[in-house]
Amino acid sequence: MHRLYVHPLPVRIWHWINAFGFILLIVTGVQIRYIGLINIMPFKTSVNLHNLVGFVLIANFFLWFLFYLFSDKIKVYLPELNPMKHFRESFRQMAFYGYGIFKGQPNPHHVSLYHKFNPMQSMTYQIVMLLLVPIQIYTGILLWDVERFQTGVNLFGGLRVVDTVHVLLFIFFSGFIFIHPYLASLGHTPTAHFKAMFTGYEEIEEETEGH
Ligand code: HEM
Repeated sequence: MHRLYVHPLPVRIWHWINAFGFILLIVTGVQIRYIGLINIMPFKTSVNLHNLVGFVLIANFFLWFLFYLFSDKIKVYLPELNPMKHFRESFRQMAFYGYGIFKGQPNPHHVSLYHKFNPMQSMTYQIVMLLLVPIQIYTGILLWDVERFQTGVNLFGGLRVVDTVHVLLFIFFSGFIFIHPYLASLGHTPTAHFKAMFTGYEEIEEETEGH
């Protein structure tokens, strides 16, 4: 067993602020959306908290973005440009999560310094961080002050479209917050990847060494 430093400090700080913030945004978002149906907190409190956490997470997003932009660690996010290789490896990974893991087969992905994500993680994180989170940020800012951002709202297709996109992404993130920790619990022990996101070090098992 040896240890590999895969999660630099800025990524770990960003990640846990982001995870905690997302939970708050989902809870306050549910209260804002389903006012009258559920009563977790007063409406005004939920709006204020949602706005505050939203802006903290926007600043936090730039911590993640700027860190990767100005560090050679950006390599972990570079997409696989050979589509055949990408899909072959993705299917291998899916087969592991859906079948192999229950048969005790080894994980086909071997973590290394600039290759910490398996092809499914790599694709999901790229889509989430470079497309879905930015769209959620943009629609969130428009909804924060629809009068001030009237032009932006109209360019996006109107208030109904902005709101629908924001809510659809909210539903996606509500699902993500369960599926993502489940997949993160499938390391060589259930807590291995969680510990790594706190310490920065991933433990590499003996049988995968040398790959
Ligand atoms: C309860 C909430 C969460 C838990 C327990 C959790 C757990 C983890 C763990 C253990 C890892 C490291 C292993 C891996 O790469 O899969 C990780 C990585 C990651 N998570 Fe989460 N997560 C949570 C919420 C979120 C949310 C809300 C987002 C984004 C919207 C997110 C985005 C990411 C990304 C992009 C990475 C890779 C980070 C990097 O190395 O650049 N996570 N998460």
